[in-house]
Amino acid sequence: MSDVVPTNRPVPPPMGLLAELTHRCPLQCPYCSNPVELERRNEELDTAGWQRVLREAAALGVLQVHLSGGEPAARPDLVELVETCAREGLYSNLITAGVSITPERLTALDAAGLDHVQLSFQGADDTVTEHVSGMRGAFDKKCAFAGEVRKRGLPLTINVVVHRANIHQIEDFIDLALNLGAERLELAHAQYYGWALHNRGALMPRRADVMTALRTVEAAQARLKGRLAIDSVVPDYYAHFPKPCMNGWGQQTINVTPSGLGLPCHAAQTIPGLEFWSVREHSLSDVWYHSPAFNAFRGTDFLPDTCQSCDRLDIDHGGCRCQALMITGDARQMDPVCQYSPWHEEIQTLTLEEAGRDEPFAYRRFARTGRPA
Ligand code: FES
Repeated sequence: MSDVVPTNRPVPPPMGLLAELTHRCPLQCPYCSNPVELERRNEELDTAGWQRVLREAAALGVLQVHLSGGEPAARPDLVELVETCAREGLYSNLITAGVSITPERLTALDAAGLDHVQLSFQGADDTVTEHVSGMRGAFDKKCAFAGEVRKRGLPLTINVVVHRANIHQIEDFIDLALNLGAERLELAHAQYYGWALHNRGALMPRRADVMTALRTVEAAQARLKGRLAIDSVVPDYYAHFPKPCMNGWGQQTINVTPSGLGLPCHAAQTIPGLEFWSVREHSLSDVWYHSPAFNAFRGTDFLPDTCQSCDRLDIDHGGCRCQALMITGDARQMDPVCQYSPWHEEIQTLTLEEAGRDEPFAYRRFARTGRPA
């Protein structure tokens, strides 16, 4: 795909920057949605490179920076990068597995101006956490880390990627979030991109479990209003309408990969023919406003007629480009999750088949050398 789809709508500045500082990670989660080909340590932007990106982000109008990975704490310069965020007036959110940050380092991050911590849990107990993360002792480390976060008065969000192996623990995750003193719990159903796609047959939850989980969440949302905010949406493949992926392509968020590529979403590299610009050669502003990849699917003009006459067009923007490509072979199609899509039945059949499989996890491993295993 070499042509750029023009849009006559004005392009707003991005509100958020997802800074994928590194792909290195101590966990081996089968639901990892990072690309199958991870970027290596020696390809990562250096400290000065990331600091320049952060300064440019602030000048561009970005308000929030999500320091992510992989595990961002694998970067020795994390404190310096948080300091830069604070200096530039950027709200910093650290997205971490919480298994490798010592209390001393957390104190330094806090002192540097860290605003928020988002901590992932793979299970609500030791057994499930170890089974999903592939790391012994991870659950206890995460709980201890959450305690340190709260001790310093930092706001805490617990994030759970929900799938077949932990969907029975929804109630336990809610209790866990309350016990750890979190303000927010995000129950995000697995998205089948990157490595996670290989594990779809092991991750896809069964319909009955999805319905039970949704009822549990609904009841807890009402019960815990004002005490714990719970974010949860119907898992994609079971929905009738698509998610407004990224709140629209090139509308709110810019992702920068460890090596400096600017992406409109974390799975954008699965779309063949898109040209991504690197922050090594271009300013962040140029990447956002002028790079071919960002302009490829801005607006909704490229969507089929069914979308153009649909009253949900401005709500879901036709859904996810990466999912449209994956299922229909055409990134310009409406997301096949939509009940009006000619591929909707196909996705339902596929969901039923995948949920009925009994496959073991293919764990994600990042070898000690920093090379993907
Ligand atoms: Fe790429 Fe949804 S993940 S547009």
